[in-house]
Amino acid sequence: MPAERTLILFKPDAVERRLCGELLSRIEKKGLKIVGLKMLKVTPELSKQHYAEHVSKPFYPLLESFITSGPVVAVAVEGPEAIAVMRTMMGKTNGRESAPGTIRGDFGVSRQMNLIHGSDGPDAASRELAIYFKPEELISYQPILAPMFAASDELA
Ligand code: RTP
Ligand code: MG
Repeated sequence: MPAERTLILFKPDAVERRLCGELLSRIEKKGLKIVGLKMLKVTPELSKQHYAEHVSKPFYPLLESFITSGPVVAVAVEGPEAIAVMRTMMGKTNGRESAPGTIRGDFGVSRQMNLIHGSDGPDAASRELAIYFKPEELISYQPILAPMFAASDELA
């Protein structure tokens, strides 16, 4: 099973509410590996690129206004089935419907201010990682403790 990479964003509400450490801590404690990390401001152009599938939807203007309203933290996360693992940890889009124990279920009551973005599949992950990170900003490394997190047949 190959290790996957996924693009995570801590959205402006997470930065504003000082929850970045909490969210990063959950990712680390889960056993996923951080391979890229940066803070940036999403511009309207970047928002349209990132959320291309949503640009024509009625809620897009509000979404762009929100995602460009303050800095975000972009995190490249690696691990076995990292894309699905992160989506499960995030919970449903709407914080009011997300299960307790998930990030959105524990920290929010909003469909829009839902704290975190995660790629929803392999194609989205490679497309979004390329939007937010240059290849040299993604770091490949093998932690000494890697064998304590997954068996050899669970990782490429
Ligand atoms: P994300 O892309 O941010 O990880 O969230 P998601 O997959 O759970 O949800 P998605 O359907 O991709 O929607 C992207 C973001 O747009 C906002 N949204 N608003 N008003 C609405 O009906 C509506 N639907 C979605 C949310 O901020 C959502 O995270
Ligand atoms: Mg999405």
